[in-house]
Amino acid sequence: MTSAASLSLAPEVETPVSSAVRRGILSRPKRLPPWLFYDEAGSRLFERITELPEYYLTRTERAILTTHAASMIAQAGDGARLRISELGAGSAAKTCLLLNAAIERQGAVRYEPIDVSASALRAAARRIECEVAGVTVAPRVMDYTNGLGFEPRREGERRLVIYIGSSIGNFEPEEAVRLLRRVRAAMDPGDAILLGADLVKDRDVLLDAYDDAAGVTAAFNRNLLVRVNRELSADFNPLAFAHRALWNSAQSRIEMHLESRRAQNVHLAALDLTVHFCAGESIHTENSYKYAAGQLQSVLERAGFEPDATWNDEQHWFAVTLGRA
Ligand code: AVJ
Repeated sequence: MTSAASLSLAPEVETPVSSAVRRGILSRPKRLPPWLFYDEAGSRLFERITELPEYYLTRTERAILTTHAASMIAQAGDGARLRISELGAGSAAKTCLLLNAAIERQGAVRYEPIDVSASALRAAARRIECEVAGVTVAPRVMDYTNGLGFEPRREGERRLVIYIGSSIGNFEPEEAVRLLRRVRAAMDPGDAILLGADLVKDRDVLLDAYDDAAGVTAAFNRNLLVRVNRELSADFNPLAFAHRALWNSAQSRIEMHLESRRAQNVHLAALDLTVHFCAGESIHTENSYKYAAGQLQSVLERAGFEPDATWNDEQHWFAVTLGRA
């Protein structure tokens, strides 16, 4: 027999968002994971970030791919036919450069984008199918940070895994090695990985990229609170938190924080939780690691890849490295 009392004590259903927010907001210092940025509004804000004059990353990596896509594909294939898998749904523009180079070389290509978000995958598949003739898109919904499996490849083919956009920068170097080891375990000897990562550079260039004059990055950061308000019935006042970007040189990373402008309480109804903020106390929302020139190779090596070639822009602001499984 079920009593009314035990029914009313039934725990709220935990979702990935509710458990991540509960864990982060109860941590000291308080933190929230960066994957929470990418709801619909956040994904749109990120697209705007990639077009900002201060945000050099996307345009620099695109320029490297524009110049070197053909060499990258030739080097990765090493005489064999390639099929391409991508971690993350991918930004169409950069991925298309590689797909087109593969089609140029082998006539057609099979492309397997892998992402946790089914809607992001659908959008990516549509864009790619419209823009590239000769590509067969085989999207796969999967959280690649937990486990990984690729679709089987044919005898004599090689797989090229692309992991670009400096997405690796969100992971601590040790975590990055662990993630890449899991990727390596799902690959066969002779396969290749193409890793794009942002490099250490002048502090002011880095800081401006994460604190743009138009305030788009600030809106992107605060949108996290808007999302928590909506999804967990919380009452954050986003404007009561200041956007902060700082350079942590000891850890070689840009950190983003949301800093409480005053002492305040925030209620998160869906978590049955009231959280106190001191004036100046912050929520750490993102780390974006910046690699030194040789460090990327060593991360690849430690994950079981043999670093093969690296392509840079003229200023050496960004690197795209090919590793061989
Ligand atoms: C998508 C993780 C590469 O770290 O530069 C952009 C996210 N955060 N502006 C980055 C981001 C603030 C971006 N990555």
